[in-house]
Amino acid sequence: MTENRQWLINGRPRGRGLVDDDFKKVVTPVPEVAEGHVLVKNEILGFDPAQKGWMENIGGYVAPTEIGEVMRASGIGTVVESRHPEFSVGDKVMGGLRWQDYAMLPGSELDKIPDDDLLAANLGALGTTGLTAYFGLLKHGRPQPGDTLVVSGAAGATGSMVGQIGKIAGCRTIGIAGGKEKCDWLIQDVGYDHAIDYKNEDVRAKLKELCNQSINVFYDNVGGKILNDALAHIAMHARIAICGGISRYEKGDMPAGPENYFNLIFKRGTMTGFIMSDYASEFPEAKKRMRQWIKEGKITFKEDIQEGFDNIPDTLRRLFAGQNFGKQLLRLD
Ligand SMILES: NC(=O)c1ccc[n+]([C@@H]2O[C@H](COP(=O)([O-])OP(=O)(O)OC[C@H]3O[C@@H](n4cnc5c(N)ncnc54)[C@H](OP(=O)(O)O)[C@@H]3O)[C@@H](O)[C@H]2O)c1
Repeated sequence: MTENRQWLINGRPRGRGLVDDDFKKVVTPVPEVAEGHVLVKNEILGFDPAQKGWMENIGGYVAPTEIGEVMRASGIGTVVESRHPEFSVGDKVMGGLRWQDYAMLPGSELDKIPDDDLLAANLGALGTTGLTAYFGLLKHGRPQPGDTLVVSGAAGATGSMVGQIGKIAGCRTIGIAGGKEKCDWLIQDVGYDHAIDYKNEDVRAKLKELCNQSINVFYDNVGGKILNDALAHIAMHARIAICGGISRYEKGDMPAGPENYFNLIFKRGTMTGFIMSDYASEFPEAKKRMRQWIKEGKITFKEDIQEGFDNIPDTLRRLFAGQNFGKQLLRLD
């Protein structure tokens, strides 16, 4: 019997950070492959801050999770058995493979992907991360040449893409990130015009110095104080794209709304939230453009690849401590 190691959801981390006890490791037999299904040997898992939110079950845009279910996650693997006409042994596939060694899924829930040097990027720059940056910026930020674009969480997987798409759209770009190393990377490799280190600098004062009352687009991954500081410096008709609010994901008491929101009235600004899956019908075109930009060297990206099945829960926690430098991935042993 081949064994299938799995990490199950064992807690509801509402209003707090993740703890060891939120997950439980079990070993089960690899399932028999049902008609129309495919058995995949999981190889690379992708990590997103939203995974913690899915465990909390506080409603929203995904089906509720159950205690005892295998932790949800996207992943890439190789087909090892197929009872679906469109998949053959050896194909590389991507889908909701979850935190386990083997996934048995209907073929309709898997995508075949090319086994090339951008294989892992299907979970990052060419996957939900890149698409989140693309649609959030282009549909909600609506950047124009000459605009000033400010991005929070700028050195993260999504934020680093946003700055580069903003550059392609002709913007002046300012990224906000934690620590000198990430800020240096933003300027030297990612091509941001300026970087603000929110852990060591006064964000509001730096925004005043760099873009006093002239932020045309603010792409927010963080929320809280950083959102409030940015609202203080918006230009007329500014667009605020609310992608995420990671500063609140571990908090019990939610902060009061941003006190500077009244600037939206004075400056006739708009603040809109979005979920990237709203644009699913446009994914193929967006992926084609992203792949082209990567090939042309207009977009670069970084991957932070951790190792090993036992390390999976700790790898998710890295996102909330800012330990990830690039798209957080893990290669299974
Ligand atoms: N709306 C959508 O459809 C959608 C889809 C995907 C993701 N998202 C959102 O996009 C955002 C980025 O996700 P990602 O997958 O690209 O992750 P990521 O940015 O690669 O990783 C998370 C980063 O957040 C920063 N961070 C953590 N705690 C923070 C805090 N208290 N204050 C400020 N920054 C903090 C850390 O960077 P530093 O080291 O710079 O602190 C960390 O590296 C998240 O808010 C996520 O929920 C939204």
